[in-house]
Amino acid sequence: MKLIIINGPNLNLLGTREPDTYGNQNFEDYFSKLQFQFRDAELSHFQSNIEGELIDELQKADNEFDGIILNAAAYTHTSIGIGDAVKAISTPVVEVHISNTFSREKFRHKSYISPNAKGVILGFGLQSYDLAISSFIKG
Ligand code: DQA
Repeated sequence: MKLIIINGPNLNLLGTREPDTYGNQNFEDYFSKLQFQFRDAELSHFQSNIEGELIDELQKADNEFDGIILNAAAYTHTSIGIGDAVKAISTPVVEVHISNTFSREKFRHKSYISPNAKGVILGFGLQSYDLAISSFIKG
């Protein structure tokens, strides 16, 4: 099973960014653990702070992977372009958030990704990614 995690803006700062909300582990360390934990799967990871690069990566990942795990971060709440890309591709996308966006500011309650996602996992800290990977492997 070939899966890619696509992370959006500011997620390169995990570990130091707002640790009360996002924890204190950096993504590279966490990703190494995921690769070990799911060693029968082929996991890739891409991060960008740039909206168009995220759209390019979604288009590139289409048909290259069995599933896409997308945390579009702040673009989740603003980007019609990323929402359209998720709609345009045929590889299933699971939307992930580290925090429970519904327990936060109202502007985080809106997602342009969810309507076209296979499912949404949020609020479990970095474990949200584990759960998304498991959903592809077990589903
Ligand atoms: C986030 C939630 C978003 O609202 C926020 O802009 C992020 C991270 C999360 O994983 O909890 O950058 O997607």
